[in-house]
Amino acid sequence: MPLVTTEEMFKKAYNGGYAIGAFNVNNMEIVQGITEAAKELNAPLILQVSKGARAYANHTYLIKLVEAAIEETGLPICLHLDHGDSFELCKSCIDGGFTSVMIDMSSKPFEENIAETKKVVEYAHDKGVVVEAELGTLAGIEDDVNVSEEDSSYTRPEEVEEFVDKTGCDSLAIAIGTSHGAYKFKPGTKPQLRFDVLEEVANKLPGFPIVLHGSSSVPQDLVAKVNKYGGNMPGAIGVPEDQLRKAASMAVCKINIDSDLRLAMTASIREYMTEHPDHFDPRQYLKPARAAIKELVAHKLTDVLGCDGKA
Ligand code: G3H
Ligand code: 13P
Ligand code: ZN
Repeated sequence: MPLVTTEEMFKKAYNGGYAIGAFNVNNMEIVQGITEAAKELNAPLILQVSKGARAYANHTYLIKLVEAAIEETGLPICLHLDHGDSFELCKSCIDGGFTSVMIDMSSKPFEENIAETKKVVEYAHDKGVVVEAELGTLAGIEDDVNVSEEDSSYTRPEEVEEFVDKTGCDSLAIAIGTSHGAYKFKPGTKPQLRFDVLEEVANKLPGFPIVLHGSSSVPQDLVAKVNKYGGNMPGAIGVPEDQLRKAASMAVCKINIDSDLRLAMTASIREYMTEHPDHFDPRQYLKPARAAIKELVAHKLTDVLGCDGKA
C-alpha cells in the first residue's frame, strides 16, 4: 500500500466519533515503536515530521523509514509535514513524497494567513496532497497572561468559515487551550479546554475535520521516573486524557502528540543508564526505549483516540 492522504481517515473518524493519532517521528526507534503498536491494534496513523526533524534525520531517511513501516504493517499511513513555516518548505515536502502538509501562518494577520495558505493549497491539491492550516494561537503558559489576552489567542469561531472558504484547506487546527511542550498548565490549576469554542467552530463547519496540536498529557508516572533517575521536571502538566477523548468524539479528527513520546523515551533511557552504568551498546538502552514508546502509543490509540480497529 502506498502512503495515503488523510481524506478517507478523517471522513471515517468524523463519522465514527474518534480521532487519528498524529505522532512526531525523528528516528528509527520512534517510527518502529509507534507503528508496532498501531499494527497490533489495527489503527490508521499519521506520522508527522517537523522542520527540525527533517533537518536532524534527513528527508530521504525519514521517507524510507516510513515506507519500511508501511511494508511491515500494511496499515494506511499518512506522512505529514508538521508546522510548515513557508511555501518553499511545503513545496519541498510535497515534491519529496509527503501526502499531507501543514502551513502554519497562525502568527500572521488573518489576510496574510489566508493568502499564504491558499498558495500552498493550490500547489498541494494539484499534486494530490492535502493541507492543514491553523487559525488562532495556541495558549502559552506565561504566568501573567490576563484574561483578555488569553481570550484573544483562542480561535475566533466567527472567522473559520471565511478562512476555510477562501483558502480551500482540508483541515483546520484550532486553539482551545492546548499548548506545546510539557509545561502546559500551572501546577495547582485545573486544566480545562474550551469545548464551547470547539462546539461553535464545529457548528460553523459541519463535517469539516478539526485538528488539535499540543495534546500531550504528560503522564505523571513518566515525569516521576525522569526525576527519579536524575532529571528535573518540576511542574510538568499536560492535557487531561478524558478531555482529549471528548474532543475526539466531537469534530476533532487529528490529535498531535510528541512530548509524551519524548518523555517515555527519556524516562526509559535514564532508568536504563542509571541501572546499568557499565553498558555502552546503544541497542541495550534503545530497545526498552522503543518498547516504552510502543506501550504509550497503544494506550493513546485505545483509550484516548479510540481509533483502534479502524484501519
Ligand atoms: O509542535 C512541535 C513538535 O513537537 C515538533 O517539535 O520542532 O522540536 O521537532 P520540534
Ligand atoms: P505536544 O508538545 O503536546 O506533544 O504537541 C505536539 C504537537 O502539537 C506537534 O505539532
Ligand atoms: Zn503542533
